[in-house]
Amino acid sequence: MNKAILALLALAVVSVSEAQAAPKHGGRWTIGMSQCNLGEPWRVQMNADIRKAAEAHSEIEIIFKDAQNDTLRQRAQIEEFTDADVDLLIVSPKEAAPLTPPVAAAFRRGIPVVVLDRKVLGDDFTQFIGADNRRIGRAAGEWAVRRLLSLPRVKAGGRARIVELTGLMTSTPGQDRLAGFHAAVQGQPVDIVFSADTQWLEPRAREEMESALAVNPSIDLVYAHNDPAAHGAYLAARAAGREGDIIFVGIDGLPQEGRVYVRQGLLEASFEYPTGGREAVDSALRILRGEAVPKQVTLNSRFFTRDNVDGGGLWLP
Ligand code: FRU
Repeated sequence: MNKAILALLALAVVSVSEAQAAPKHGGRWTIGMSQCNLGEPWRVQMNADIRKAAEAHSEIEIIFKDAQNDTLRQRAQIEEFTDADVDLLIVSPKEAAPLTPPVAAAFRRGIPVVVLDRKVLGDDFTQFIGADNRRIGRAAGEWAVRRLLSLPRVKAGGRARIVELTGLMTSTPGQDRLAGFHAAVQGQPVDIVFSADTQWLEPRAREEMESALAVNPSIDLVYAHNDPAAHGAYLAARAAGREGDIIFVGIDGLPQEGRVYVRQGLLEASFEYPTGGREAVDSALRILRGEAVPKQVTLNSRFFTRDNVDGGGLWLP
């Protein structure tokens, strides 16, 4: 190929990306953000992270919709964004299966979609951003085993008793946090004596923990899939006068939530689950400028214990 043809091809590439780099409706780029709920501090933080990252970019405008933890409402809101032909969608879906079709429909219509935190099925989206929940679950399991093996009764040959309070099991973080934890504790002297789906909700976790306490005279550790559930479990144990006998472990590690519980000694460990809000805005800008982005971005996590929390925690191995 001679130089003139190469130069022509280069020009063609530039003009294609320039053609993509124009907001559909003139003025600023419109980004629709479909948030599954704002009931937990973690999701409020995600939206705040997105807002903060977007502030530095006057060329984009973000419209937020809150599905209030209702899958059908979230489906309708994604469809509304698609009908409005937004320039790009960011979706943090409540559940994987039922939210796959509206995400895929937007993507097939040519709207780039960044899926954040919880996954959808298949690969009809532009990019998925989130931490590795299986790895977090495994790290929590390995930490729990080490901690439980230090208990005198377990050292003396007894088995430890764990209560697992899962997240919503139709969402992928719940499935992965369970699978990673179970893989880590398999073959160890521990039994999961009670397991319940809290749907990520603190009041449900509290109720389920009341049941767990009623049927189990001895519980060594509670593994909760998020810090609100760990806190709900702690409150139930405290109401029963049993909080001092139990080790509580949670996930999210927000500075204003999990890390405070760790400092206060309510939780012995909290595993960080970054919101990905800033990364989603960075990716959105790159996509809108016509740049190629990887299909998957995996965020790193730290874990916090009383010993390391003031030093900023430790990265997961
Ligand atoms: C908030 C939340 C977090 C959790 C995440 C999982 O709705 O439950 O506590 O880590 O969602 O998607």
